[in-house]
Amino acid sequence: MTEHILIERRGAVQIIRMNRPDKKNALTRAMYAAFSAALRAADADPEIRVNVVFGVPGAFSAGNDLADFMAVAMGGDGGTEVWDFLLALAESEKPLVSGVDGIAVGIGTTLNLHCDLTFATPRTVFKTPFVDLGLVPEAGSSLLTPALLGRQQAFALLGLGEGFSAERARDAGMIYAVVEEDRLEAETLAAAEAIAAKPPQALKISRDLMRAPRDELIARIKQEGEHFRERLKSDEAKAAFVAFMSRKK
Ligand code: COA
Repeated sequence: MTEHILIERRGAVQIIRMNRPDKKNALTRAMYAAFSAALRAADADPEIRVNVVFGVPGAFSAGNDLADFMAVAMGGDGGTEVWDFLLALAESEKPLVSGVDGIAVGIGTTLNLHCDLTFATPRTVFKTPFVDLGLVPEAGSSLLTPALLGRQQAFALLGLGEGFSAERARDAGMIYAVVEEDRLEAETLAAAEAIAAKPPQALKISRDLMRAPRDELIARIKQEGEHFRERLKSDEAKAAFVAFMSRKK
């Protein structure tokens, strides 16, 4: 377990908080593992009816830890934590609500595509610079984004790596609502509580009917993952990681 993922229970609501503010909530392997464990625990616990995901003020998540990507690019073993997390997200039986404030890069954007409701603040920017990093979309985003936004907006997000403001993301159908920073947690939790108060079986069937067929989603996550692992070792990716690392000095 890691102190960078905090788990809290409020009645039937489980709150999963990414909490690594000094690195803008870049996700490490330990954080993915703790996040997956929380989603799986919710599936196994009938008293948890909904999961809520938050980051810290100003940073939902800066995406996968680039030092971990660099380690794989240099021949290291990436482990199974990311794959396990993506499966836990796709297979999660409980509704998932997110409250996003500020930076939302890479998986910090794509995990929201698995959410049933996403709230974001006016200063939030969603961005997936996969191609600029020599990589490809992940988390099923190559399937989910065109379905949600249409192909051209999906290309702008995933291909061009354009930043989407919260307002643009809402207008494009990617998120549910834009709320002021000081209302984010309250509004997100109120929505979660409304979900938790619904008849759970009717809600589960309804949710399953609305979501992309799970087999298709998991097959796409796997297909993306095969390309992603190859791309991590590419010269294009290595150059991008080195540029980021040396930028700090
Ligand atoms: N992996 C590892 N460390 C990261 C990180 C990431 N994805 N994102 C940010 N950090 C670290 C920075 O290196 C910095 O660490 P330091 O203080 O030890 O130097 C710290 O978090 C703060 O980041 P900083 O860049 O100073 O903040 P910023 O507000 O100026 O910029 C971002 C924030 C997110 C725009 C910028 O950090 C960034 O582009 N990060 C990379 C995002 C990315 O490409 N993610 C992978 C997507 S697949």
